[in-house]
Amino acid sequence: MGFVVAIDGPAASGKGTLARRIAETFGFHHLDTGLTYRAVAKALLDGNVPLDDEAAAARTALEVEFAGLDRAVLAAHGIGEAASKVAVMPSVRQALVEAQRRFAARQPGAVLDGRDIGTVVCPDADIKLYVVAAPPVRARRRHSEMQAAGSTASYDDVLADLKRRDARDMNRDDSPLRPADDAHLLDTSEMDIETAFRAARALIEAAR
Ligand code: C5P
Repeated sequence: MGFVVAIDGPAASGKGTLARRIAETFGFHHLDTGLTYRAVAKALLDGNVPLDDEAAAARTALEVEFAGLDRAVLAAHGIGEAASKVAVMPSVRQALVEAQRRFAARQPGAVLDGRDIGTVVCPDADIKLYVVAAPPVRARRRHSEMQAAGSTASYDDVLADLKRRDARDMNRDDSPLRPADDAHLLDTSEMDIETAFRAARALIEAAR
């Protein structure tokens, strides 16, 4: 096991950007675990398989190739929504979590970001961060990213979608989104990424 950094938080909280910066700075491997759930959802959508077909979703989860996860292909907003539907299924989570744990063991260290990294995937992580931001701040960030990518979705729709996804992620029975007891809370509502990164770097250096 190398050094493990666990980063959790709701959609568009800034955890992905933070995870990438940390991985680059310390020379660690990075896994955006959201992409693993998105890959399952996209395979079902592409095959016209209903999103509530748990047996098909679990088979698909066992086949996800972590090396081939492409953020550009999986980023679409609709795939995130579909991912949160397959993510409530225990058999899907079990298959993905096992592979995520193997990734976390890579040397010299790994940064994993998601919803349940500090609580379920890597409860013994060397450092745990829980990144939050107020819903309107997250919706503004997500809305501008989507506009830049050519989307015409309204800010109000983006905010409503985020709130619905937060509720689904926080209220499911298996591995709900919540901070681990020993997680450090980072609120990025009024913090730019550079400030958040400096705070995270200081915590990691202290833990090493
Ligand atoms: O982070 P991202 O928006 O890509 O995640 C998509 C969905 O995948 C989340 O809304 C959540 O339902 C699910 N997910 C999860 N556990 C993780 C990462 C993502 O349940 N560790």
